[in-house]
Amino acid sequence: MNKDIIKKLKEDASLCEAALAEYFASEDEDIKSLLDSEKYSLFAGGKRIRPFLVIEFCKLFGGDVKAALPFAAAIEMIHTYSLIHDDLPCMDDDDLRRGRPTNHKVFGYSTALLAGDALLTHAFGVAASNEYVSAEVALEAVATLSEAAGEFGMVGGQVIDLEGETRRLSLETLLKLHSLKTGALIKASAVMGALAAGCKKDSPEMAATIEYAAGIGLAFQVIDDILDVTATEETLGKSVGSDGERNKTTFMTYYTVDEARAYAAELTANAVSEIADYEGSETLTDFAAFLLERDY
Ligand code: IPE
Ligand code: IPE
Ligand code: MG
Ligand code: MG
Ligand code: MG
Repeated sequence: MNKDIIKKLKEDASLCEAALAEYFASEDEDIKSLLDSEKYSLFAGGKRIRPFLVIEFCKLFGGDVKAALPFAAAIEMIHTYSLIHDDLPCMDDDDLRRGRPTNHKVFGYSTALLAGDALLTHAFGVAASNEYVSAEVALEAVATLSEAAGEFGMVGGQVIDLEGETRRLSLETLLKLHSLKTGALIKASAVMGALAAGCKKDSPEMAATIEYAAGIGLAFQVIDDILDVTATEETLGKSVGSDGERNKTTFMTYYTVDEARAYAAELTANAVSEIADYEGSETLTDFAAFLLERDY
């Protein structure tokens, strides 16, 4: 694997974390447990792949990184909320996340639930207040986020995922579930980066962005399903074997590990070809390869 991509991921993660730290600088003794719970999960060292996509798509299309950062922070806040709720006993009931005990194990169910609510709500304010883009672009980004996070996006995917514990989902439904629960936020990240660079909704740049992100987003969840059976908790930093324990329908229901890997590789190759003609797209090509080969 290209070592530079790890370095670039770390650099963009630091930029995003510095922006997040500013949004979470206020203290209030009366809601300390809530703020602590939000920060506990937010600053626990995730891979920050969604912020990376926002920043790198903004750069690819000639935008200023400053314009990408509020969008990057907002999407990471929504992603973190989704993880806190995903781990709750009424969802996947997991104990380990980002190398730490899950949020509800430390702060209790109510605070974990509310920390998720607060992160989701705060995220829209952060995206809307991006002062480095026009009001029109900020509005478009907020609409993109809302669609990706809501019932026809991530939340809808989570509902199908939970239903896949009690009935076998068809492969077609599984593909839909993956593209919603994981693909939607990944696609929104890339789109918000392109928006921050000034790309229009109906431009060829935006079409290529969407195709790339849809491909790597699906590949990402295929690999996530593989890692749930092949990885160790130490490297992955989250509970493993959880899908099998809950009898979930995943890619492992339909494919062997090798078949699923081959499918993810094909999705990745197609995704990468969508942006190959843009100068500077190598970073995003290397990134797609990193996601495919990752073991965490
Ligand atoms: C985990 O996402 C949840 C899925 C959508 C599969 P990540 O693998 O991006 O988690 P972090 O942010 O690095 O912890
Ligand atoms: C995650 O899917 C999705 C969201 C949080 C939206 P998973 O349930 O597979 O994620 P992990 O494996 O717990 O990270
Ligand atoms: Mg889940
Ligand atoms: Mg889970
Ligand atoms: Mg998983």
